[in-house]
Amino acid sequence: MERRVVFVAVLLLLTVAGAFGQEKTKKKGTSSSRETNSAKIDFAKEVFPIIRSNCLPCHLAENENPSGLALDNYETLMKGGEHGNTVVPGKPKESNLYLKLLPNPPFGKQMARNRKKLSEEEIMTIYKWIEQGAKEK
Ligand code: HEC
Repeated sequence: MERRVVFVAVLLLLTVAGAFGQEKTKKKGTSSSRETNSAKIDFAKEVFPIIRSNCLPCHLAENENPSGLALDNYETLMKGGEHGNTVVPGKPKESNLYLKLLPNPPFGKQMARNRKKLSEEEIMTIYKWIEQGAKEK
């Protein structure tokens, strides 16, 4: 009889321990889904569409724009404008492409000039893309 009581007690303990273990696994699951939010930003699918609808046609090579910054494609974007540091890979806070989207940029006006401002989400997409190394692919 004594033995049976001990056996049941041990069984109960194991069940409780098991439940705790599962709790921990669940929590891990949540944090990994948070990581998906900072997943790699794709230039062609995520960054360029923002540029196309907000920055063109002003910043097209054929439009002789005063900043010398053509945003026709990845190559011209990386070549940058006349102030330099348009994109400093890994350093969004030193990149004019990002700084010019904020109020009080280091020079000139906030982009997209007289048009509608970018949403916080669009600005963060550009920020993260630069932070991740500003790769074409
Ligand atoms: C209505 C036309 C227009 C639109 C739209 C526009 N820009 Fe500009 N951009 C300019 C002009 C004009 C300048 C030069 C004067 C200044 O810096 O404010 C400039 C300058 C810049 C510069 C500085 C380049 C350098 O090195 O001198 C950056 C970076 C820039 N724009 C990024 C953007 C981005 C990103 C967008 C889209 C979100 C955008 N612009 C939309 C007209 C425009």
